[in-house]
Formats: sequence, C-alpha cells, structure tokens
Amino acid sequence: METFDSISKRVSIREYKSKPIEKTLLEKLVDAGRRAPTARAVEPWEFVVVENKETLKKLGEIANTGSFIKDAAGCIAVFSKDTKYYLEDGSAATENILLACADLGIGACWVAGDKKPYVGEVSRLLGAPSDLRLVSLVSLGWPKEKTEQVKNRKLKDVIHWDKF
Ligand SMILES: Cc1cc2nc3c(=O)[nH]c(=O)nc-3n(C[C@H](O)[C@H](O)[C@H](O)COP(=O)(O)O)c2cc1C
Repeated sequence: METFDSISKRVSIREYKSKPIEKTLLEKLVDAGRRAPTARAVEPWEFVVVENKETLKKLGEIANTGSFIKDAAGCIAVFSKDTKYYLEDGSAATENILLACADLGIGACWVAGDKKPYVGEVSRLLGAPSDLRLVSLVSLGWPKEKTEQVKNRKLKDVIHWDKF
C-alpha cells in the first residue's frame, strides 16, 4: 500500500475478531515504531508487546479509556525514557505503529498513556522500570468491520499559506 493510502485509511478500530496476529507482524509493528524520528537521536523508547489474554484483560480493566483492550488480539505499550522530548518521540513511534497497522490491515486504536491516572498501575502490571514513562497503549486486532476515516476539518479549513 502506498504511504498516502495508509494515512487516508488509518482509523481507530476498537472492535476485533478473535483471530490472533502472527508474531512476525507484531515484530513488524515494533520495527515501524523504532524507525520514527527522535529528538537528538536518543531513541528513548521501549515497546512491550502484550499477547497474554489475562494481561490484556487486566490492561482493559486498568486503562478505563481503553476497556476494549480486553478483547484485543494484542497491545503494544509504548514507553520512553524521561527525556526532554519523550512525549514527541513516543508519539511519533506510536503514529508509525498505527500507520503500519493500516498498511497491514490490522485494526488499532491509540489509548492514552501519559497524563492518565492509570499509568503507574499499567507500568507495574507490565514490570516496567520506574524511570520509564508510558506514552501510549496501542490496542490491536483484526477489524470486525470496515470503517471509513472521518475528518470534520477539511484541507481548506486548516491550511494557511505564508500567514493566517
Ligand atoms: C493522544 C491520543 C490519545 C487517545 N486516547 C484514546 C483513548 O484513551 N481511548 C480511545 O478510545 N481512543 C483514544 N484515542 C483515539 C481518538 O479518540 C481518535 O484518534 C479520534 O477519535 C479520531 O478518530 P480516528 O483515529 O478514527 O481518526 C486517542 C488518540 C490520541 C491521538
């Protein structure tokens, strides 16, 4: 799929089939994440790929804005060292993963990590070292149904040439 097709097709998917995702594809997703740009080239990230059903269930319970993780085939937790640009770096990696999902036909949804009260509990559940910050949880699974991307603000609404 062309890059622009992936960008146009990427959409948050929260309902999944029960079919598992092959390990090689999960690895591809993390590989996409680690190739993201990173401030000062520090590559501060760590990725925890969760496949264990019991852990997915617990993640869905703890991360209450991502309760659908309990029925996901997998979830990638994106952590970052606490660098000056940890949020930008972790977010860039997260978006790379989402675009790779769109390319592979895998349904995914960004579930907030940073700033949520549940970050500590998620970090403890996944055994993350205490100096790492949870940037996002990416819920994964084969989509139950096809969903079109909807964007309310069109190109003409957001683009400005030279100045406002
Ligand atoms: C930083 C960030 C945090 C998000 N957190 C959640 C979340 O906790 N739960 C959720 O269901 N969706 C979450 N989303 C997904 C957004 O709701 C979604 O991207 C938005 O509704 C636009 O829909 P689209 O992704 O289909 O274009 C998050 C997205 C971003 C960028």
